[in-house]
Amino acid sequence: MLSNKVNLKDMKKTGKNTSIYGTRYVSEPIPKFEIPDEGMPSKAAYQLINDELNLDGNPNLNLASFVTTWMEPEADILINQTNGKNFVDNDEYPQTEIIQNRVINMLARLFNAPKDCDFLGTSTIGSSEAIMLGVLAHKWAWRENRKAEGKDCSNPNIVMGADVHVVWEKFAKYFDVELRMVPMEKGEYTLTADKVKENIDENTIAVGVVLGTTFTGQIDQIQEINELLVNVKEEKGWDIPIHVDGASGAFIIPFLDPDFKWDFRLSHVRSINVSGHKYGLVYPGVGWLIFKDKKYLSDDLIFEVNYLGGIIPTFNLNFSKGSSMIIAQYYNLLRLGKQGYSSIMNNLMETATYLANTLKNTGYFKLLDEELVLPILAIKLDNLDDLDGADDLTVFDISRKLRERGWLVPAYTLPANAEDIAVLRIVIKENFTRDMADLLVQDLNNIFDGYKKDSKDDSENEPLINIF
Ligand SMILES: Cc1ncc(COP(=O)(O)O)c(C=O)c1O
Repeated sequence: MLSNKVNLKDMKKTGKNTSIYGTRYVSEPIPKFEIPDEGMPSKAAYQLINDELNLDGNPNLNLASFVTTWMEPEADILINQTNGKNFVDNDEYPQTEIIQNRVINMLARLFNAPKDCDFLGTSTIGSSEAIMLGVLAHKWAWRENRKAEGKDCSNPNIVMGADVHVVWEKFAKYFDVELRMVPMEKGEYTLTADKVKENIDENTIAVGVVLGTTFTGQIDQIQEINELLVNVKEEKGWDIPIHVDGASGAFIIPFLDPDFKWDFRLSHVRSINVSGHKYGLVYPGVGWLIFKDKKYLSDDLIFEVNYLGGIIPTFNLNFSKGSSMIIAQYYNLLRLGKQGYSSIMNNLMETATYLANTLKNTGYFKLLDEELVLPILAIKLDNLDDLDGADDLTVFDISRKLRERGWLVPAYTLPANAEDIAVLRIVIKENFTRDMADLLVQDLNNIFDGYKKDSKDDSENEPLINIF
């Protein structure tokens, strides 16, 4: 008989005659707070971390995030091949910078930059960095103008709706600008021109508007706000720019509704951000900022850095960053073209509309806004009277129950003054198919069935065991 004890010990030590699971690495706690004195084989490190990450949610069932969870295998290859390129080393990787500039050109044209303007832009880590930089440029321009006119420039303010993403509040705090945030009202979850009129003055550095809000997927009154600012300029001489936060919408609306004017066709829209990693269909790590004309970005904000053999002009909050997502963005633009993006966006809207109707037909849900402009659903609970013991059932409970099945669907209350409205938000992404929508509704129906007195068992659910 084999001397089991001795052999096992040796085998565990060397790990030679077993898979990772027979080695000592899985029967010892892995270092968590202190760098270990000795390392471990790459396979063991991979397996241990990979196994732990299984506790995370499944990105493909993540209907909470706007961020891309799937790309084509060819894009994955390009990303893997370029992971080691630091974008800022543009003397070493000049072609990568050229590719970035091509994307900026494509986006500026997609956003209808006028021919007589000299647009410019930059890639960023995401929309948050792009918004900070865009609005910072407007603060600078406002201050330079005020100084030139010999006026006080100690009290800049920025006007936006409470429907903005938290990054707008961060901007105001980090860059010391008074935040004039217009609260929501019941039934009105976007920024209107009337509200802007009440809040602007000669110290307003910019108005922030959203093309597809994080909370409801709706669009602020961009055209009306532009008209208002045209009139204000004529009447009072205040030249207030608009920055459009197109984090999600700027990669959707140009393909779904190219005639809808929200972009550089409007005279006061001077900068736009978009997240490449949302509906640009690239994994996390890329955003874009485009200025309608270089005159809106003061030279003072561009740093000429002498680095690794070249002079690099930078207008970014970060210095080093990866190149792969910029390259992946270019891949998508080449691969899909306008036609491909349009087909995908149309599919998303079809799935969103189908899901919205199916949810309404359950009788238990209502859409916050019946008119879907982006593939984002904000839904409230409706009439639960025919359910037993569901009086206290909330969207938070539903979100929790869906999580048991793996679905990640967030529930939250709306910002001031609509805090008493709680919604579930479902973001439809490229890899959320019509069939997945049916599976989600089936799971929701199963939740409600649990509250039915005579819960019938004649559902259309797939049988768990195939008896044929
Ligand atoms: C409207 C809006 N603006 C800005 C952001 C921030 O974008 P990012 O995550 O790309 O920094 C988001 C994120 O969801 C958003 O929805």
